[in-house]
Amino acid sequence: MPKITWKGGTLSAPIPPALVSCRHGGRDNLITVAWTGIVCSDPPKTYISLRPSRLSYEMIKQSGVFVINLPSSHIIRSIDFCGVRSGRDVDKFAACRLTAEEATTIDCPTVAESPLSLECRVTDITPLGSHDMFLADITAVDVDDRYIDENGKLRIEQCSLAAYAHGSYFALGKKIGSFGYSVKKKRR
Ligand SMILES: Cc1cc2nc3c(=O)[nH]c(=O)nc-3n(C[C@H](O)[C@H](O)[C@H](O)COP(=O)(O)O)c2cc1C
Repeated sequence: MPKITWKGGTLSAPIPPALVSCRHGGRDNLITVAWTGIVCSDPPKTYISLRPSRLSYEMIKQSGVFVINLPSSHIIRSIDFCGVRSGRDVDKFAACRLTAEEATTIDCPTVAESPLSLECRVTDITPLGSHDMFLADITAVDVDDRYIDENGKLRIEQCSLAAYAHGSYFALGKKIGSFGYSVKKKRR
């Protein structure tokens, strides 16, 4: 199958349109961030890449902490809004009617409406070009207990997670496999 070749670009998909919460100078703010991911398992580390022009950039640089709230389809309109309006002009928690809950390991709000929140402490800031990368330790993971079953297992398929791909938002579809299933012996 022939492919056409485009110049190098940022087309990676799907990725989470994460709702990042932050706090500094007595105010809370939200910013939508697609440039995020996990970079190390032990210690658990993540990153977010921010343009220096964002209000959240300065807030997170000053506070050294942030929370990555994973996107659920139920709040996708708010996630888009937090990506096109600045906290300089609007209180995004109030405008989106999102509930700020206190994180457990850092002085920062989490978003109650998100099923999973990663509490993060910045360890390095690396200028890359358009964006600076905030590398961070994940100090805690807050899980909505509605998605924990009677055996203590996270039912992530029930979290209605959303994805971002090439400028559009998608609701995750049906489960089609799980880690290592391709080599698992079938039960007779
Ligand atoms: C889907 C989506 C993904 C985004 N990803 C990023 C990102 O990774 N880094 C970034 O700096 N801005 C990103 N933005 C833009 C910011 O969210 C936007 O400029 C926001 O208004 C900044 O808010 P603030 O000034 O309150 O910090 C994204 C916007 C959208 C809609």
